[in-house]
Amino acid sequence: MASLRFDIVTIFPNMVAAMLQDGILARAIERQVLDVAVHDLRDFTTDRHRVVDDTPFGGGPGMVLKPEPFFRALRQIRAVHGDPGAVVLPTPQGRRFTHDEAIYFRDLRHVVVLCGRYEGIDERVREALATDEISIGDYVLSGGELPALVMLDAVARLVPGVVGDEQSVREDSFATRLLDHPHYTRPAEFEGRKAPEVLLSGHHGEIERWRRREALRRTLERRPDLLGDAELTVEQQRMLDELRHERDAREERESDHEPH
Ligand code: 6GU
Repeated sequence: MASLRFDIVTIFPNMVAAMLQDGILARAIERQVLDVAVHDLRDFTTDRHRVVDDTPFGGGPGMVLKPEPFFRALRQIRAVHGDPGAVVLPTPQGRRFTHDEAIYFRDLRHVVVLCGRYEGIDERVREALATDEISIGDYVLSGGELPALVMLDAVARLVPGVVGDEQSVREDSFATRLLDHPHYTRPAEFEGRKAPEVLLSGHHGEIERWRRREALRRTLERRPDLLGDAELTVEQQRMLDELRHERDAREERESDHEPH
């Protein structure tokens, strides 16, 4: 049995399946570390025209996804694969998806995602079927398919064996709680821009120290909010103090030159 199973219920199965054709997810499915089933919501209708939506009670614009096909889909998934660890409803009203949420779903091993369209899904699906309502950020998407794929990708990366290089997963931003350091490859100089000397030096200790410092520098500049959660080593705390001093000195110099 695969280490992680996702069942994704959607009115756009091709859209979801397309993302499973290439890349890390495709390799993980081939190697049976990951199992993903995409279910067409229309396969769980009973009428001749396979209708999945209807007009909203009370009137108003748009259509609402009917409850019965979702209930039938989940009943079938349960009958075949047992009780899932979570039934996720992607919605902008949900709690925010983060690295810690990805760890939570990874550990559940079996996740069902019920994709709605933004205009709406019958409230009884949320009440009776959903265990978790999840948003991937503060913007509106047309449906739950992209959020389902975002969650699947982030969760699958945390399953041992899905990403080839386990070191890179451990060192990922958000695993370390810091942003990544810059990366360089050949040529050593390109259009007058040089790769940092230290990276060409072969001094592995110094290279690692430079990377830790640049990761801190970027986090301090771009996402200082992350520094509150990061557990810093004594060395990192000292580097951070130096970087803050450098920044403060630079800002001081710059404000001296501002016209009053
Ligand atoms: Cl999970 N769904 C939709 N429709 N829009 C979103 C979202 C989810 N997360 C952010 N925007």
